[in-house]
Amino acid sequence: MNWKYYYFKEVNSTNDEALNYPVGSVIIAQKQTAGRGRYGRQWLSEDGNLFLSAVLPDYGNDSPLLTFVAAVSVADSLADFPVRIKWPNDILLNGGKLAGILLERTDDKVIIGIGINLVSAPTQNMLYRTASLNGKVAKEDLIMKLTANLAHNAELLAQDGFAPIRDKWLKYAVGIGETIRVSLPNETLSGIFESFTPQGAISLKQANNTVRLITVGDVFFEQNKKG
Ligand code: BTN
Repeated sequence: MNWKYYYFKEVNSTNDEALNYPVGSVIIAQKQTAGRGRYGRQWLSEDGNLFLSAVLPDYGNDSPLLTFVAAVSVADSLADFPVRIKWPNDILLNGGKLAGILLERTDDKVIIGIGINLVSAPTQNMLYRTASLNGKVAKEDLIMKLTANLAHNAELLAQDGFAPIRDKWLKYAVGIGETIRVSLPNETLSGIFESFTPQGAISLKQANNTVRLITVGDVFFEQNKKG
């Protein structure tokens, strides 16, 4: 992928802006007035943090797997820090959420929105504990590393399927083998996070020994309600 970069002072959301751009575009904004998170949540967009959306082609049935491609790419870009991934795609630093990823699909493209707390960690009304890089990484360097990794890992998915991405994801994963709580759209489940399946789901073993495959939801760790 030969990325073309578009920089904005202010947008509603880089994911919305990206709708107007072709595959291969990267939209970066200094400020978002209506940054979005997963499940229609707000993404507080504090000054100096990174707000970026990359436009990828549609990968058909594999498109949802780009969420793991994105998570691994962010983690690979921050190799100097002990970052971890919480299923499916939250990037944690010292247990706090450092970066979030919002994948959105149209008929013919996939928009990967990435927010990274480069300088400050929003604390208002947060569902999770948050973390920031406290200005230790230069924004432009990170943009270049991140988009190079994204291109590389997306290519890996296209060429070799999910297995190599899954292997990388597992190296960063937290919570496997632990008791977790998963909040789904209509219910909350508890159980042991037995494994990350070859399709990207959580295999959750519940107290009655039944196993549920989870493909959508928010994970919380039992010992720390703030995940
Ligand atoms: C989440 O963890 O809930 C996902 C957060 C995604 C935030 C990024 S910031 C850039 C892009 N534009 C948005 O409005 N959201 C994503």
